[in-house]
Amino acid sequence: MSIFSRIFNAKKQENHSLEEGFSAGQYKIPHHLAIIMDGNGRWAKKRHLPRVAGHKEGMETVKKVTKLANAAGINVLTVYAFSTENWSRPNDEVSFLMKLPVTFFDTFVPELIEQNVRVATIGDIDRLPETTKQAVLDAKEKTAQNTGLILNFALNYGGQQEIVDAARELAREVAAGDRLIEQIDRDSLAERLTTGFLGQYANPDLIVRTSGEERLSNFLPYQAAYSELYFTDVFWPDFDKADFEAALAAYTKRDRRFGNVKA
Ligand code: IPE
Ligand code: IPE
Ligand code: MG
Repeated sequence: MSIFSRIFNAKKQENHSLEEGFSAGQYKIPHHLAIIMDGNGRWAKKRHLPRVAGHKEGMETVKKVTKLANAAGINVLTVYAFSTENWSRPNDEVSFLMKLPVTFFDTFVPELIEQNVRVATIGDIDRLPETTKQAVLDAKEKTAQNTGLILNFALNYGGQQEIVDAARELAREVAAGDRLIEQIDRDSLAERLTTGFLGQYANPDLIVRTSGEERLSNFLPYQAAYSELYFTDVFWPDFDKADFEAALAAYTKRDRRFGNVKA
């Protein structure tokens, strides 16, 4: 498919989703939506397919949800793509997962540019295979000037390690005499987490997890302190516009008190 027909199709699909009755106006829109994309393996198993078929299909869901998030006016969409614990999976699955970003960006970057979406990452991308890392860096560079939705991939991300790394950095500054212990506070710690670059949007307003599991699995443990949590039984490859809207509808009804009392 040529770049132009891809862009055309992307536009058509986006308009189509709006024509279908998706009007963001009826929902409270989170600034930062974070998704634990889970259930790819079970989706495939149910169809007697290899687990990796679920990952491939899951990649298509990321494309669809990116368009929906953009149309809804969400500022940051963080998707948990690979955890530091996922290295323990069988080698062939890990190597398939490492190839996915290459295919994903190869086919999707022109649409991301057309949609004004900026690609970002959290997690340690230096430890990814070289070709994977290059594909990610290339996508970031090509979309760096975009000012719309930030599509933020958690890649080789582990929340506990992230806190350890930030603590070490602060300790180093103290040891070097550049910081007083009293100057270690929530702001200086948050700035040193890999979400620091998101500034006021670093903490997700809403975290969605698919596939029926109800845990964080080392995803944004510090940033999730006051996030609203939404769980759905749907497997990630099946997650569609109706599920996206159901999550927004649930979020719209939530009363976020942040420890205060209702006004
Ligand atoms: C989520 O799907 C994708 C990754 C963790 C990379 P899973 O691969 O965890 O699918 P299930 O949980 O085994 O069904
Ligand atoms: C969390 O899912 C990681 C990602 C979605 C990338 P897992 O499937 O790895 O989590 P657990 O093992 O069920 O907790
Ligand atoms: Mg899983």
